[in-house]
Amino acid sequence: MKKGIFITFEGNDGSGKTTVSKLIYEKLKEAGYSVVYTREPGGIDIAEQIRDVILDPKNTRMDARCEALLYAASRRQHLVEKVLPALAEGSVVLCDRFVDSSLVYQGIARGIGVEEVYRINEFAIEGHMPNATIFLSVDLETGLQRIECRGEKDRLDNETALFHERVAQGYEWVKQEFADRMHIIDATKQLDAVVEETLQEVLNIIKEHD
Ligand code: TMP
Repeated sequence: MKKGIFITFEGNDGSGKTTVSKLIYEKLKEAGYSVVYTREPGGIDIAEQIRDVILDPKNTRMDARCEALLYAASRRQHLVEKVLPALAEGSVVLCDRFVDSSLVYQGIARGIGVEEVYRINEFAIEGHMPNATIFLSVDLETGLQRIECRGEKDRLDNETALFHERVAQGYEWVKQEFADRMHIIDATKQLDAVVEETLQEVLNIIKEHD
């Protein structure tokens, strides 16, 4: 049986990642691909419940390592219940965020360290890394302005500008560390242009994988 392809989307808060990845899903579906769209934390019932706990703005006392473990726990359940079965059926799986987000947000921005965060994630993912990652790149200011325009903010959106600056620095590290699977898109452009460029990139990734 043909094996599927696992493509993740990463970027700072306010990069437009969710909007773009959902549009790419629609376009691939229209083009006749077997494609699954999902997101982290969440994507399936148990992981969405964990998401609610992590992102509840009331949970201001949450310890950084507890947060990292909850992300890894939701990732594990989502991987075994949704991602791996879809890949086994030969689908293209588009996932809004994956392990890179934990390395950046918990490992670097929270200051736990990428090695420690990778270790707990290794336990969770058992080597299932993405085939390719689309990185939607925006400057910090644009990202922060977009977050400001959101109606309801979650616990992570409410973090300080310094935290979001560390996230941006963290992504610079991740882009270098995993350069071979990173596909970087300038997400400061108009939405149509970003979607078009991303679609071409995703189609190339699928073609190379075949
Ligand atoms: P979202 O806004 O992309 O839905 O993600 C929710 C928040 O969770 C976002 O601020 C990034 C954060 N996050 C982490 O801190 N670590 C992780 O491993 C993941 C998947 C998300």
